[in-house]
Amino acid sequence: MFPAKRMRRLRKSERLRSLVREAEVTKGDLIYPIFVQEGIGRREAIAAMPGQYRLPLGGLRKEARELVDLGIPGVILFGIPARKDAKGSQAYAPRGIVQRAVAEMKAEVGEDLLVITDVCLCEYTSHGHCGIVKGGKVLNDPTLELLAKTAVSHAKAGADMVAPSDMMDGRVGAIRSALDEAGCEETLIMSYAAKYASAFYGPFREAAGSVPSFGDRKGYQMDPGNSDEALREVLLDLEEGADIVMVKPALAYLDVIYRVKNEFLAPTAAYNVSGEYAIVKAAAEKGYGDEKRMVMEVLTAIKRAGADIILTYHAKDAAGWL
Ligand code: PBG
Repeated sequence: MFPAKRMRRLRKSERLRSLVREAEVTKGDLIYPIFVQEGIGRREAIAAMPGQYRLPLGGLRKEARELVDLGIPGVILFGIPARKDAKGSQAYAPRGIVQRAVAEMKAEVGEDLLVITDVCLCEYTSHGHCGIVKGGKVLNDPTLELLAKTAVSHAKAGADMVAPSDMMDGRVGAIRSALDEAGCEETLIMSYAAKYASAFYGPFREAAGSVPSFGDRKGYQMDPGNSDEALREVLLDLEEGADIVMVKPALAYLDVIYRVKNEFLAPTAAYNVSGEYAIVKAAAEKGYGDEKRMVMEVLTAIKRAGADIILTYHAKDAAGWL
């Protein structure tokens, strides 16, 4: 007997394929990362990330409006301060670049756009590490206080959500208590819970000028070989009060996204990072693949693995195509 089951029957037309499609990316899943730089007058192209820019403060209202018009629900802000120092003091300055950027965007679009802030010290420290450095070591506990201060200053400026990306132990708990004490109990926390020490952050570090001046981040970010450990990280962050947990990067860690979603059934985000973006853009520029199809396939794969939310530099293009 010829097979009664013919898998190809369901693939016959786009109508049938769309009827049985299991995972589909929607605009509502996307968060767009933005770099805002202090002290520049006009936007600057980021060489390793074609199509992405460091924006001046004055360009943010237009940017916010554009994102709302595209139907993108949220933005995550990264600040590049004019001055860096050993303690990253511009990270928690009340009139720091991110604090002003949040206020600027909120003044334009209010509730129409979720404004999320990356909470970390590496863009603000002269040594480029994510915490306080002493004797060549990145200290955990003294860093927590500064991260909490940073998160509170973002919330006070109007951020809807803070996203700690430093990978210090105990930071979600420290940030949650500080926010609550400051009367910001409605501010959400999206923790970079399983963040790997990855080579795929290269273009971001060029964009933000946050390459560590000595050593690397392997003493605090996760080892790429581990996924049981990712579950332990996520469990801790959820216990400490994270509302959303993130896996980062996304593409080389689809199995981790899958495990995290299945184990905890919590809102799960994945960060399609700068290096992943650069690969697709470079291939498209060289004519090795169709950009739109590569982007949509990448985003669909991240969704299929279990992500509810995708942070991606492709967000504007994807929203335009969807
Ligand atoms: C800050 C931070 C980084 C990224 C997000 N937050 C850089 C790093 O950890 O070195 C990377 C994002 C990207 O590559 O797109 N700690």
